[in-house]
This record gives sequence, C-alpha cells and structure tokens, in this order.
Amino acid sequence: MKPWQHSSVTGLEPATAAPAGIEGIRVLRGDFADFMLDYKFAIDEITTKINILREDFNHAHEYNPIEHINSRLKSPESVLEKLRRKNYPMSLTGIRENVLDIAGVRVICSFISDIGKIRDMLAGQEDITVLKERDYITNRKPNGYQSLHLIVSIPVFRSSHTVRIPVEIQIRTIAMDFWASLEHKIYYKYQGEVPPSLLSELTQAAEAATRLDEKMESLHRLVENTGRGDAR
Ligand code: GTP
Ligand code: MG
Repeated sequence: MKPWQHSSVTGLEPATAAPAGIEGIRVLRGDFADFMLDYKFAIDEITTKINILREDFNHAHEYNPIEHINSRLKSPESVLEKLRRKNYPMSLTGIRENVLDIAGVRVICSFISDIGKIRDMLAGQEDITVLKERDYITNRKPNGYQSLHLIVSIPVFRSSHTVRIPVEIQIRTIAMDFWASLEHKIYYKYQGEVPPSLLSELTQAAEAATRLDEKMESLHRLVENTGRGDAR
C-alpha cells in the first residue's frame, strides 16, 4: 500500500492515480485506471473541502483546528488483496460497492474537541453523505487505538458523467496519530505476532496519549477563557 502522503494545508500535493496494467487487474473488465481516477478526484474534493473549512474557521475564530491532512489512494495490489481476502465479487462493481477505503483522507487535529467540530462541519455539507461511522474515541479499541472513522460518499464531476465515490476519513489528534503510527510499525515488524509484553506497553502508551490529550484540552480551554495576562 502506498504510504499516506503528507499534504501541507496550504500546498496540497494531489494523490496520484494508480497505474493500470498489473497482473491481477487484467481479470477485471473495464478501464481500471479510469475507475481509480474517480477515487483520486474524490480525495481532491475532500481535501479541498477540509482546507476551506480550516481557512474559514481560522478567519471566523482566529483559531485553527487542523494540524495537517494526509491522503492515500489504495494501490491496485491492495484493492485486489482485499477483494480476495473478503471474497468480494471480482469486478469493478464488486470493488465500488465493497471496498470503501480506496480513497483515504486523514485529518490530524490539535485537540479532542476539534474532532467533533470537523466531523460535524463535513457531515453537514449537502453533497456529503455519511455511509458509516466508527467512533474509536468513545469506544477505544482493546489495543488502545483511538480515532474517529467516517465513510462518506461525495459526487465527483467527470467530463462525461457524475459518480458518487466513497472516501474513508480518519480524524484524530496528534497524540492519537503518533500512537497509531508506532503501533502500525510494530504490528508490521512482528507480522501481527506482537509479544504480549510489548502489547501491554502499547496499551499503556495509549493511556498516556489520552492523558496528554486531556491535559492539552484543559490547558487550551483555560487559555481560551482567560483574558490576556490573567493566567500569570
Ligand atoms: P479494513 O481493515 O480496511 O477492512 O477496515 P475495517 O472495515 O475493519 O475498518 P476500521 O474502521 O476498523 O479500520 C480502518 C482503518 O483504520 C485501518 O485500515 C487502519 O488505517 C486504521 N486502524 C484501525 N484499527 C487500527 C489499529 O488498531 N491500529 C492502527 N495503527 N490503525 C488502525
Ligand atoms: Mg482499510
């Protein structure tokens, strides 16, 4: 899978469309490169929306709730691997209907309270439909993973037609993201067989990340509610 690309919020690097022609793709009928382009455009649409929200929110409240945005387009190999693993129909329709994380956008927020704000501002837009939502912040995963996941659909306006495309949006804080990247590396290093002692250390690290997030949130509130000089 391609790594998540960092896109500076001011100078977004658009995700690149996947090359066609790998072995497994030949079993699919239709133009796979054109099919994947829909997802690249959906990423472009969502990142533009998030950038607009960020700039507008900053303008209105003199405060920026977004640290940065990453995006990734699932590679054709990963799409096929998921299709096989989950036994989904081997067709473009099978992919479109079942593989909902081909387009991925990750939003890293400064504070926990920003996550809900970003979620609501996106979900409230009339061209966005929330198809699925998983709140791993209220219900942390047993290993300690925290993040808010949305699968949304968004219209992509092509030159000849319009199509609604699913995009997976992960919203989390810097601390949650820091934890998730390390856990991901460890998981891959041990190929899923992470020693129990390390698993327990990771869970403790997740708890420390939560405490840090809560501390930062309360400091942030304090500063927001205090006039200049009051906190001295
Ligand atoms: P798939 O694995 O894509 O089929 O996801 P799913 O349908 O089970 O969805 P879920 O919302 O649980 O996870 C989607 C994505 O969230 C994953 O592909 C990861 O990017 C991220 N994620 C979920 N759980 C973990 C975790 O325990 N650790 C880390 N580092 N990332 C996770
Ligand atoms: Mg996934």
